[in-house]
Amino acid sequence: MDSCDNMSLEVNPFAKNISQPFHPFIKWAGGKSRLISQIKNFIPKDFNNYFEPFVGSGALFFYMVKSFKIKREFCAHLSDINSELINVYKTIKDNLTDLIQELQYNEIEYYKNPKRFYYKLRAENFEFNSIKKAARFITLNKTCYNGLYRVNKKDLFNVPIGKYINPKICDFQNLTKVNQIMNLTNTILEDYDYYNITLKIKENDFIYFDPPYHPLNETSKFTNYTSYGFDYNQQKRLANFFYELDKRKCKILLSNSDTTFVRDLYSSFTENIVSLNTLRSINSNSEKRKNHSELIIKNF
Ligand SMILES: C[S@@+](CC[C@H](N)C(=O)[O-])C[C@H]1O[C@@H](n2cnc3c(N)ncnc32)[C@H](O)[C@@H]1O
Repeated sequence: MDSCDNMSLEVNPFAKNISQPFHPFIKWAGGKSRLISQIKNFIPKDFNNYFEPFVGSGALFFYMVKSFKIKREFCAHLSDINSELINVYKTIKDNLTDLIQELQYNEIEYYKNPKRFYYKLRAENFEFNSIKKAARFITLNKTCYNGLYRVNKKDLFNVPIGKYINPKICDFQNLTKVNQIMNLTNTILEDYDYYNITLKIKENDFIYFDPPYHPLNETSKFTNYTSYGFDYNQQKRLANFFYELDKRKCKILLSNSDTTFVRDLYSSFTENIVSLNTLRSINSNSEKRKNHSELIIKNF
């Protein structure tokens, strides 16, 4: 049985226990922090459990637990195919003290000689235990170019060092709050392909799909969060899943690029396709960080 089936109801755990502000603990390509002020308008008023199967930095999840009076203690299922990323979430949830120690060590070493430490850490990894791996992931995320996560075909992180003045590698306060939130919301964390949530989803659950976007054109392509990529067939497979979950009476919200291909995939929901204005943040050329629109597609 899913542990969520036994939840106690009618409590808002967040208001009582977490009064300080908190935010996503990493920067992530395609992260939704900048769009939250628009996306929040599409969050349903009533739902049972929450699923975010392309969680990345979890911007919508953190926004929801921060901002809403949740009438009952709900269960959050956060997942992503990136196992290194999910290891970080799990470590923050279950091993915070050890993680903080590792991050403090990394911070001290980084400040002695940023470049040397960064490239040494980037080259190391597979011998590490899960706590050191999580600390390495956060450290590289806070100090690499633009907070970008990119791996090569061999799954090796290959982003160069970024230009930062005094980056905060160990954000003790924020990590402590993220730890509390995940424990209070009974967060379930999984590193798998999004389709695996199919067995857990029930009527009136809310799912936010934020997949790698279909590229606007070949040069704007950025889908390599992992070595698997996310191509046309993957977009079609996801759309089929959207239609399947719609039949199961779930509440679904999906983000993607504003392209004819995407609009065609979700043509049965044309009346519920909304275009949002945004500024693309991760692009090596700042000239190309121009306004463009992207889509929200919903079934309710
Ligand atoms: C656009 S990002 C999500 C950003 C997130 N909403 C945020 O606020 O940071 C897309 C995510 O999908 C993940 N991903 C790619 N292919 C996947 C798959 N087949 N199943 C699950 N997650 C996948 C990537 O690792 C990446 O974290």
